[in-house]
Amino acid sequence: MATAATRRHYLMCRPTYFTVSYAINPWMHPDVAVDTDLAVAQWENLRRIYLDLGHEVSLIDPVPGLPDMVFAANGAVVVDGLAFGARFRHLERMPESTRYLEWFKTHGVEVGVRDAYLPLAVAEGEGDLLTTPARILAGTGFRTDPAAHRELEEYVGREVVSLELVDPRFYHLDTALAVLDDETIVYYPAAFSAGSRQVLGELYPDALLAEDADAVVLGLNAVSDGRHVVLPVQATGLARQLAERGFEPVTVDLSELRKSGGGPKCCTLEIRPEIRPEVRSGA
Ligand code: ARG
Repeated sequence: MATAATRRHYLMCRPTYFTVSYAINPWMHPDVAVDTDLAVAQWENLRRIYLDLGHEVSLIDPVPGLPDMVFAANGAVVVDGLAFGARFRHLERMPESTRYLEWFKTHGVEVGVRDAYLPLAVAEGEGDLLTTPARILAGTGFRTDPAAHRELEEYVGREVVSLELVDPRFYHLDTALAVLDDETIVYYPAAFSAGSRQVLGELYPDALLAEDADAVVLGLNAVSDGRHVVLPVQATGLARQLAERGFEPVTVDLSELRKSGGGPKCCTLEIRPEIRPEVRSGA
């Protein structure tokens, strides 16, 4: 059963300069037209949903020539007030790395982030590095290097479990798995290697398993506050599964951003401030 919602703090980047001008995943076709105004309107709706749910949203300035900067999830993963930055796999996205790192360096104090670190190995932030209270689930196979999993473990002092992605349509962990509450996850088994399916089965015997029809509309690219799960409107089966487990599905249409292989989670970087030791030990 779903737990109570907790107030979250997200970092987002308006898709002012969004387009699809290169192809670094199978969803991207530079010859297909993109409606940037519609992308902005759909993104504004997502931001409004977070605000209406009572969450806090900070913004980072978009940069001309960096069309994928809207996918803030890739800019870092922030755990216990420590921002583990991004080192991108593809040349086209490399300049985003310093933009996000600088944001955390300049806004750190006001948002409760005490340090920011640039990994040596390729790491694409929350695209591949999903935090739960018990452990960090870390994807590899297409983008993030397993060496970055170990760097993250050393940097934040939390267990990092490596998971191997095998289907190029699900190139980031957050396209194949979502954290729903402290103990519950949903994932699409076919996106993972046999070994990683085994690991997930053992760690999460009660996980929700997504169907093909929901995975292929990027339904797994969802954002949960422990109770409300913001997910693509096209993922109707998954919305039903979530409701059956006591979660409240909140649907959004991000059809334009999907042309780049992104959904609501890709647009959303969660800022987890440092939690005081007395609070953590009581948790
Ligand atoms: N076009 C972007 C890329 O291929 C999409 C990134 C989506 N972000 C995510 N967290 N899955 O890098």
